[in-house]
Amino acid sequence: MKVYIIGAGPGDPKLITVRGAELVEQCPVVLYTGSLVPQAVIARARPGARVLDSSSMTLDQIIDIFKEAQAADHDVARVHTGDPSIFGSTAEQIRRLQELGIDYEIIPGVSSFTAAAAVLGKELTLPELSQTVIVTRAEGRTLMPEGEKLEDLARHRATLALFLSAGLIRDVVERLLPSYGPDCPVAVVQKATWPDQKIVRGTLADIGDKVRAERINATAMILVGEVLEAKDFANSRLYDPTFTHRFRRGTDNAS
Ligand SMILES: C[S@@+](CC[C@H](N)C(=O)[O-])C[C@H]1O[C@@H](n2cnc3c(N)ncnc32)[C@H](O)[C@@H]1O
Repeated sequence: MKVYIIGAGPGDPKLITVRGAELVEQCPVVLYTGSLVPQAVIARARPGARVLDSSSMTLDQIIDIFKEAQAADHDVARVHTGDPSIFGSTAEQIRRLQELGIDYEIIPGVSSFTAAAAVLGKELTLPELSQTVIVTRAEGRTLMPEGEKLEDLARHRATLALFLSAGLIRDVVERLLPSYGPDCPVAVVQKATWPDQKIVRGTLADIGDKVRAERINATAMILVGEVLEAKDFANSRLYDPTFTHRFRRGTDNAS
């Protein structure tokens, strides 16, 4: 018996991996985070499978499902939104699985921050502009560890992907403004890849008003950084004809 912790992807049911989809089809127990996992993914469950929504469960209730499956020797597809390793509350489940001696495996998924970049048609890392993406959140009821407050991270001026923060947009803007400046591009993508996806583009100066006008306060990704609007960035070395690398001899190495 095994628990498969599966990333369902950001919303479009075709964005689950082939392996993730196969496991949902095969496992006799499917336990999914009902708040964001699309029904079309769950509809793959085999006839007679025990299909349960964990959105109103406590951790102990989730563990009880694992224990029952263990007693029945039934594999479990534990389906999470996006990628399970990012704000997935999976570590606490894994710790309990390890304590119970239950085998588990993680099947990665498309995270909502990469899905948001995709629907914007953008690359988040550009030569000489930003080679770093900081994946974080604004401080709400979950406190941020020392050194990880938004104003601390903002000092790097790296590309930012903010989860769980749309409802705190005013506070986000206030903390980012001193380092990024008012003209820094921001995009907010609500429900990336869902049929009712919404995109709001702006700058740190006006994004607060725009997000409030669109009434976006949940299930949204905030992306911040020059990469969102940059036009005259340098080309990468990868396709530079002068540059030699493992797969191509460039003119810099001509003898
Ligand atoms: C509990 S976290 C789960 C994140 C997930 N593990 C991932 O990799 O995307 C939920 C937050 O992820 C973001 N999110 C999840 N799905 C999204 C989507 N389709 N579009 C935009 N943001 C999304 C939102 O910030 C939301 O508040």
